[in-house]
Amino acid sequence: MSGPIVSLQTTENHQHLTIRRPTQGMTLRGRIQVPGDKSISHRALMLGALATGETQIQGLLLGEDPRSTANCFRALGAEISELNTQSVIVRGIGLGQLQEPVDVLNAGNSGTTLRLMLGILASHNGRFFTVTGDSSLRSRPMSRVVKPLEQMGALIWGRQGGALAPLAVQGQQLQPMHYPSPIASAQVKSCILLAGLMTDGQTTVTEPALSRDHSERMLRAFGADVRVDPETCSVTVTGPAQLQGQTVIVPGDISSAAFWLVAGAIVPGSDLVVENVGVNPTRTGVLEVLEQMGADITQENPRIVAGEPVADLRVRHRSLQSCTIAGDIIPRLIDEIPILAVAAAFAQGTTVIRDAAELRVKESDRIAVMCTQLNRMGAQVSELADGLEIVGGATLKGAEVDSHADHRITMSLAIAALNASGTTLIHGAEAAAISYPGFVTTLQQVTES
Ligand code: S3P
Repeated sequence: MSGPIVSLQTTENHQHLTIRRPTQGMTLRGRIQVPGDKSISHRALMLGALATGETQIQGLLLGEDPRSTANCFRALGAEISELNTQSVIVRGIGLGQLQEPVDVLNAGNSGTTLRLMLGILASHNGRFFTVTGDSSLRSRPMSRVVKPLEQMGALIWGRQGGALAPLAVQGQQLQPMHYPSPIASAQVKSCILLAGLMTDGQTTVTEPALSRDHSERMLRAFGADVRVDPETCSVTVTGPAQLQGQTVIVPGDISSAAFWLVAGAIVPGSDLVVENVGVNPTRTGVLEVLEQMGADITQENPRIVAGEPVADLRVRHRSLQSCTIAGDIIPRLIDEIPILAVAAAFAQGTTVIRDAAELRVKESDRIAVMCTQLNRMGAQVSELADGLEIVGGATLKGAEVDSHADHRITMSLAIAALNASGTTLIHGAEAAAISYPGFVTTLQQVTES
C-alpha cells in the first residue's frame, strides 16, 4: 500500500489524524526538538506579570494553555508582547497591583492557569474577579485550592460550594498558614505559595510526596524568600515579597519528549535524539521507569540553563519488560502515565500502575480513556480504581479511536499507532495543540526520515 504514513484531515473545528504503518519496516530516526515546558511557561508569564520591570521569556510554549494564561494576565493589566518562541516581553505591574478585569477570566482547558491564578486573585485585596474555563475545566475539582485559600481568609464562590468553576473571587488581605496538603500536587502547592507572596509572614505547604518544583525555583530567581525542606517535602514563602523581572529560558518539555522516547523505544530500528529537554529531578520519573523497563535512553550534553537542568535525550529501540509504577514516583511522572501505558502495552509481562487516582480528574479521566482506547486497538488493559493493569505483548492493530479532547491521550494513541498493524484513525486530534502545537509535523518528520 502507498500513501502518506501520517495525514491530517480537518472538518469544522475537529482534526482527524490517520496513521498507517507501512508493511515494510519503518524506523524512527533523526534529531528533533520539542516545544517549551508548559509548567515553566505558565509560571514565567505569571511571575513576569506580578514583578516590577521587564521579563524576557525565551522558548515559551505556544500551546493553547499558555495562551490562556497570557490572555488572563493581559486582562489583569500586564503588558505581554505577541507570543513567539524567540522572545516574549512581559511588562509587570508589581505585586498587588493587578487591575479588576472588565470581563470573566477564561482559563480555557488549563488547570494550571486557573488554580495558580486563584491564589494570586484571592490575595488581591479589594478587587473582584470571575474565572471560568472550557467544559473539561469546569468539571475538574477546585476545592483542592479553594479550601486552603479559604483557610487563609479568601472569599470564593462557585457551584457545589466553590468546588467547580465558574468561580467568583473577592480579593482579601490573607493570613499566613501551614497547609499539610493531602495530595502531592504542584498546582495546589503553587497556588498557596503565590497567595503567600502578598501575605504577611510565613506560608508553608507540606506535601505527602515531592511534586514538580518549578514555582520554587522561579520564585527564588525573581527575588522571593523561598525555603525548601526536602526531608519533609515542605516549602515556605515569606511575604510580603518583591519580585523583580528576569530573563527566563524555557527548556523543552520532558512531558512532550516522553512521546518520542517511547516511540523510539518501541519501534524496531529506531534511533532518535530529542534535544534540549528539561530534566529537573521532580519531572524525570518517566526516565527512571523507562530505564527500569529496559529502554536504551542516554542523557547527552547535560547542562544548567537559567536554573533548570537540561540535556539531550537519545533513545534507541530495545525490547521492554513490564514493571510496577506506584508510590512517591507518581507525582514525578503523572502526565506521562498515558504514554507509559503505551510502552507497557508493548512490553513483555504485566505492568501495574497504582496510586494514580489523580488521573481521573485530569483533562479527561485518563484511566478510563486509556483503557477503552488502547483496548480498541487490541491491547489488554484493565482499569483499577487508582491506575491500570496492562498485560503487555499483545499485537496491536489499527482502529478508530477518540482523544476525548485530551492532548496527552491524542499523542499517546498516535505513538501506539506507529507500532500497530494497519491504519489508525484518531478523532479529536486538535487537542494536541494544548501542549504540543507541532506534534503532527514532527510525527511526519520522524516517520519519513
Ligand atoms: C502542573 C502540575 C500537575 C500536572 C499539570 C501541570 C503544574 O498537576 O499534571 O499538567 O504546572 O503545576 P497537579 O499538580 O495537579 O498534579
